[in-house]
Amino acid sequence: MEIVCPGGKNILKYLLEKNVTIDTPCAGNGSCGKCRIKLIAGDLPVTKTDKEHLSEEELSTGIRLACAAVPDKPVRIELNELGNVNAVTLNYKSAAYDNGVCGIAIDIGTTTIAAALTETQSGRILDVYSAENSQRRFGADIVTRIRFDSLNHNGELTNTLLDDMVKLLNHFAVKYPGIRKNIRKIVISANTTMIHTLLGKNTASLGVYPFAALTLGGEEMTLKTLLRGRYSAIDKNTPVYILKGFSAHIGADIASGITALGLLESDKTAVLCDLGTNAETVLVKNKRIYAISAAAGPALEGGNISCGCAGVDGAVCSVKIQDSVCTVKTINNKPVCGVCGTGVIDCAAELLKNGLVDKTGRLHDRYFIKGYPLTRYTDGRILYFTQDDIRQLQLAKSAVASGIEILLKRTDTSPEDIDCMYIAGGFGYYLNTDSAAAVGLLPRELCKKARLVGNTSLMGAVKLCRERDNTDMYNSFTEIMLSNDEDFNSSFIENINFTEE
Ligand code: FES
Repeated sequence: MEIVCPGGKNILKYLLEKNVTIDTPCAGNGSCGKCRIKLIAGDLPVTKTDKEHLSEEELSTGIRLACAAVPDKPVRIELNELGNVNAVTLNYKSAAYDNGVCGIAIDIGTTTIAAALTETQSGRILDVYSAENSQRRFGADIVTRIRFDSLNHNGELTNTLLDDMVKLLNHFAVKYPGIRKNIRKIVISANTTMIHTLLGKNTASLGVYPFAALTLGGEEMTLKTLLRGRYSAIDKNTPVYILKGFSAHIGADIASGITALGLLESDKTAVLCDLGTNAETVLVKNKRIYAISAAAGPALEGGNISCGCAGVDGAVCSVKIQDSVCTVKTINNKPVCGVCGTGVIDCAAELLKNGLVDKTGRLHDRYFIKGYPLTRYTDGRILYFTQDDIRQLQLAKSAVASGIEILLKRTDTSPEDIDCMYIAGGFGYYLNTDSAAAVGLLPRELCKKARLVGNTSLMGAVKLCRERDNTDMYNSFTEIMLSNDEDFNSSFIENINFTEE
């Protein structure tokens, strides 16, 4: 896409005003180097930030960073709009709406907002909806968004999210005109940060020790109150229930997942793992819930990976290296735009398997400087997986592996005691569990018992459109704080290396 930007204005700000979204994982603070644009006509001086992130070759072909670019005079630029988020929601069979009473279940994820229209009496899902969380323009991961909110708590995150809510509700109301008055309940599940932004609360305290939450959810209100004066086509008096989480890090999305999978109703010992910037893992054992949240950083979401991106159309999600030939698959087979979390894990696992990375994480001499050439972008540029990318993955995988190790240790549980490990969230569709075991992200013993379960947060909200939640669950909860754990640091150091080659 080409666009003309006026002189005297920051290009990223101008694009945001025009509702053009490009990749800006660091929310414009100049640290990620992802907001690339190409100068077609006019003049854009090379900035200090450009020099930090772009090669001589890129600069000479007119590549610049939008967040650092302020042209004197109008310029024409070319940009890659962000691909659609890969928003698989639930496996369901669409059903005809027969004017019955319904509920709307909503999961507000950091990347995607998903919803299900569900018939109250039968529990059938009639339709699902998904869209990108428009807050993404304020940062790809939750930490960047909290930082943005701490610096500019002016309601932008809340307004953006509420506008997304209105779009979602109107989508169902337009598609099924009969439901406007027939929605009896809206149930919202989300992590604690998203609940803060939904309710207009400052997220600053969630970003600093002791990570105090101003709310964990549990609020009941009318749609009118939730939307703060915005109009939606659903009756404004419809009751809204926001699910309750356990703590700042173990949010309502996890509580909803436990409900969806019926983990407390079962005698089995199970682990539920949601991998992301924070890897939340719960162990349900003898009807009690034990949880950890491991700060994995943005690598598993492609954040601090040089060629990384979110799980959008065109993201490399799977990698195979055989006989020195590398083949990749992208989400929805769209042209390559970067590598998402599952691609990062696959890539490292394949490099290990082929002896191109050693146990310490060092790339083979041949690739040490530039990186391993994974594939090409459509414009011919090579996408390299670099030494630094491997280091970022090592930090992330070690945090997750050590977190799980401590969780099992503190609860006197061995991997053999666990009946099933559920992988939820974005990774709960595409994760190659063999690769996850090969890089040491998850214990191999547990990977053998893994089930990819997708969006359990939405599944739980669907269930709670018909029933009340199990409030006892909150009394059975114990969080193991990794920051205070005497063994976490030594585990983290031990797990940095790869154990398989
Ligand atoms: S460097 Fe521009 S958005 Fe990150």
